Amino acid sequence: MMNFYILTLFPEMVLQGLNTSIIGRAAEKGCISIEAVNIRDYTLDRHGKVDDYTYGGGAGMLMQAQPVYDACMAVRERIAARRQESGARTEQNGRVRVIYVTPQGRTFHQDMAKELAEEEDLIFLCGHYEGIDERVLEEVVTDYVSIGDYVLTGGELPAMVMTDAIARLVPGVLHNDDSAVTESFHDGLLEYPQYSRPEVWRGRRVPEVLLSGDHARVEEWRLAQSVERTKRLRPDLYERYLSERGTV
Ligand code: ADE
Repeated sequence: MMNFYILTLFPEMVLQGLNTSIIGRAAEKGCISIEAVNIRDYTLDRHGKVDDYTYGGGAGMLMQAQPVYDACMAVRERIAARRQESGARTEQNGRVRVIYVTPQGRTFHQDMAKELAEEEDLIFLCGHYEGIDERVLEEVVTDYVSIGDYVLTGGELPAMVMTDAIARLVPGVLHNDDSAVTESFHDGLLEYPQYSRPEVWRGRRVPEVLLSGDHARVEEWRLAQSVERTKRLRPDLYERYLSERGTV
């Protein structure tokens, strides 16, 4: 069981995206839990304000430190209480990681997803507008992570992307325990091509070897396809595959 807490001004956006399909079913089954925490619920401003102008001038509004800090502390306290209640049964008593999604962070990748999937709890902090007051980031954030070199309007989509990539690695989330490991990026290789019925479609035949029933030959063919594809489409991954294989 892994718990995701997503701190955002747009909880409905996050929940709608993640309560669907495989991740939604995993949450229903209890393999994971996903909670969207509305930062606005924690503002002390009587008009519900959570943003203000930036000191020094410049475009746009900035999310203020207080509501972000209080929302984060409230979640951390709940996690601490739950961990204490479950006592010795929990392995992780360390600090809960708080991930701020920002184009300034390290770029997210599969190995990072694997590492984060080992955590019992994860807190994602989503900025909006021009960002968040630096002081609260310094106070609560443990990891700065980007999903790629482009700028989005907010951290919600990146938090959803990362939650999806991490959640599918949690045991029980995927029906077939194999599929998390056999898919693209296993061994650093891209996935081989796949086919379903019919055997011939618009004159194109399914490769003969897949109909042969010879499991060893099928596996051999798939590996060769993966290697060829990776070499052709992602020479960068191919180089890494070769050098990592060379060191084993
Ligand atoms: N917020 C805005 N753009 C982002 C990106 N590319 N990655 C993570 N967080 C973001």
